[in-house]
Amino acid sequence: MIGRLNHVAIAVPDLAGATAVYRTALGAEVTEPQPHPEHGVTVVFVTLPNTKIEFLEPLGEGSPIRAFLDRNPGGGVHHLCYEVEDIRAARDRLLAQGARILGSPEPKTGAHGKPVLFLHPKDFLGTLVELEQA
Ligand code: CO
Repeated sequence: MIGRLNHVAIAVPDLAGATAVYRTALGAEVTEPQPHPEHGVTVVFVTLPNTKIEFLEPLGEGSPIRAFLDRNPGGGVHHLCYEVEDIRAARDRLLAQGARILGSPEPKTGAHGKPVLFLHPKDFLGTLVELEQA
């Protein structure tokens, strides 16, 4: 069912510092920061030949990554995003197997303008999983 790894998201306390580490130490291409107030994060993308890394920095009150950074003050891997062809079909299959969707089971528009859902980390080896319709 799942296809390509779309991105690995890393929550960071300091986007400028994270960008500098990847640019300088790893020689990576990093985009300019993009604020997404509707998602409570500012995002940069690290472009790799086969996938992307996203750095997420909290934006505003009630950011969904604030609690994660409180537990991991230096930052850490926050979620993996896999592509699916049909997100509603994927959701129905997962729900039928007892997997839990975080929040509403109706897909939301994610940071790339495509429908996304998040799956409970306790059902997926302790890792938050995002599904994005390719
Ligand atoms: Co994501």
